[in-house]
Amino acid sequence: MCGIVGYIGNRNSQEVLIEGLSKLEYRGYDSAGVAVFTDKGLEVKKAKGRLANLESQLQDSPLKGTIGIGHTRWATHGKPSDVNSHPHLDDTHKFSVVHNGIIENYATLKEELIGRGHVFVSQTDTEVISHLIAEEYKGNIVEAVQRAVRKMRGAYALGVLTEYEPDKLIAVRNASPLIIGVGEGENFIGSDIPALLNYTRDIYILNDGEMAVLTRDGVELLTLEGNFISRETFHVDWDLTTAEKAGFDHFMLKEIHEQPKAYRDTMSARISEDGKRVVLTPAEFGLSKEEIKDIHNIHIVACGTAYHAGLVGKSVIEKLARIPVETDVASEYRYRSPIITKHTLVIVVSQSGETADTLAALREAKKNGARVLAITNVVGSSVAREADFVITTWAGPEIAVASTKAYTTQLIGFYLFGLYLAETLETQTPEVIAETIAAMKALPEQVEAILTQSDDIKAIAEEIAKHEDLFFIGRGLDYAVSLEGSLKLKEISYIHSEAYASGELKHGTLALIEDNVPVIALATQEDLLEKTISNIQEVVARGGHIIGIGEDGNPDFSRHVNHLFTIPRTLSLLTPALAVVPLQLLAYYASIARGNDVDKPRNLAKSVTVE
Ligand code: M6R
Repeated sequence: MCGIVGYIGNRNSQEVLIEGLSKLEYRGYDSAGVAVFTDKGLEVKKAKGRLANLESQLQDSPLKGTIGIGHTRWATHGKPSDVNSHPHLDDTHKFSVVHNGIIENYATLKEELIGRGHVFVSQTDTEVISHLIAEEYKGNIVEAVQRAVRKMRGAYALGVLTEYEPDKLIAVRNASPLIIGVGEGENFIGSDIPALLNYTRDIYILNDGEMAVLTRDGVELLTLEGNFISRETFHVDWDLTTAEKAGFDHFMLKEIHEQPKAYRDTMSARISEDGKRVVLTPAEFGLSKEEIKDIHNIHIVACGTAYHAGLVGKSVIEKLARIPVETDVASEYRYRSPIITKHTLVIVVSQSGETADTLAALREAKKNGARVLAITNVVGSSVAREADFVITTWAGPEIAVASTKAYTTQLIGFYLFGLYLAETLETQTPEVIAETIAAMKALPEQVEAILTQSDDIKAIAEEIAKHEDLFFIGRGLDYAVSLEGSLKLKEISYIHSEAYASGELKHGTLALIEDNVPVIALATQEDLLEKTISNIQEVVARGGHIIGIGEDGNPDFSRHVNHLFTIPRTLSLLTPALAVVPLQLLAYYASIARGNDVDKPRNLAKSVTVE
């Protein structure tokens, strides 16, 4: 997803921009560029591919100046190429723009601008912005930007420079993230905090419909109508080293290993000292008992891995609190006219808190009178700010595109919330609640135990990496985890895989099973074990090669599989928080065996801020 950095101060801006962009690489991108005020005016350099390509151009011919904007692009309109990379200029080359988001009415705007004599060089929607601003410029860049954005429809975070006012950097936010970093004699813009953390810890978070005017000496926050905004800066107290690899080969492996800590952090302040109750603050879920009783149904809405967490969340809430739950993929939710009333609680789940489809679903829910609870990993994200209640998953920054610790802490979020509802509604006895909490508290150590067996998984992954197709099967919660295991494998190893509810295989897919096709069979649900074993037999009879994931000490299951990986025993409801860990490792090692870029898989972005 596109990343923006901007600088105004006294340092060599090229260095600040490249450093900031390197911290945004994790978002995924296909090209990069910078614009800097030099003694020749606004100069732009851009390059398709990795940031290193741009860096080598800048090494050969540096851009010397102390004000600039930079961008990593993730293509939406127009293929990845030098010319489609940002920054974009108008045709006088006096205005330069970087943009994250999509301008929905760009085609109409472009046609009108061409009609008035503007000449375009790229296929992007962004280029219309620089032309529009140039056209609206009557001697005041702030007013020109305000007039230009009034004509635009869609999502945009913008950084704007003009040669006419070379002591100003303009930032605008509407539905795409943008923050302002405040320094001494220097100020910054960025798509997120890690991009600025080497320079400042004092941050303004821009809201939708707001802009900032940065000079060397200060920052003014304004509405798009021009009204001044007074706001305190937010001080970042976490360290950049927490976002670095800490000795692991890849961020993904580091993040898999951080799960025990992430579980503990997410649970710790939310479990009473006696270990018998879940405690949520009013900001986390501030409804009274009467209001909770008035919830008739719950919709869980999310994308990708977060959606898979939602599938587990559905079972958890229905089982513990006996409230009917529907789970939807966010990009489908709005368009199926969901029945949302004031008695509906909508839970949106998003690691980044910026996923456009999830945000749109949240807005749809609120428009229809539902209350919204967000489960997210990013404090101050759009989802967190717009929801009524927020359960933050304290996973820490997740850099690898493939989500691991964010997913498992989302599961913890659902367990905590399900227990909180159960206790309030008295749908479970205090004993069941205390027993579940005790089992949850054991999860971090159990994950640690699984991680010590990583080499077993590595050996299986190296075998799997030789295949082009494989299957995951499971019943109940094992099916939900199978979907996540399959997504993880596809995402980073590029091996085609499908996940099926075990009982569904015989309704069609069994035709694909022949000699040596790998089938990963999850069987952690004790009450479903017999039925799962029957489905495994159906696969074995057709020559399939079974890799079983079961619980420790289950001899029944071990007799029916070619390889067995076991996880420590826990309550059936909690097994997803353990069973997914070997599947994460399997995907990781299969990706390594295939020589892929684990942390930045092809075609994918960390934060998907377009619909
Ligand atoms: O930031 P979000 O949790 O809203 O992102 C949702 C999906 O884009 C994300 O989970 C995606 O599926 C991951 N890359 C999967 O590993």
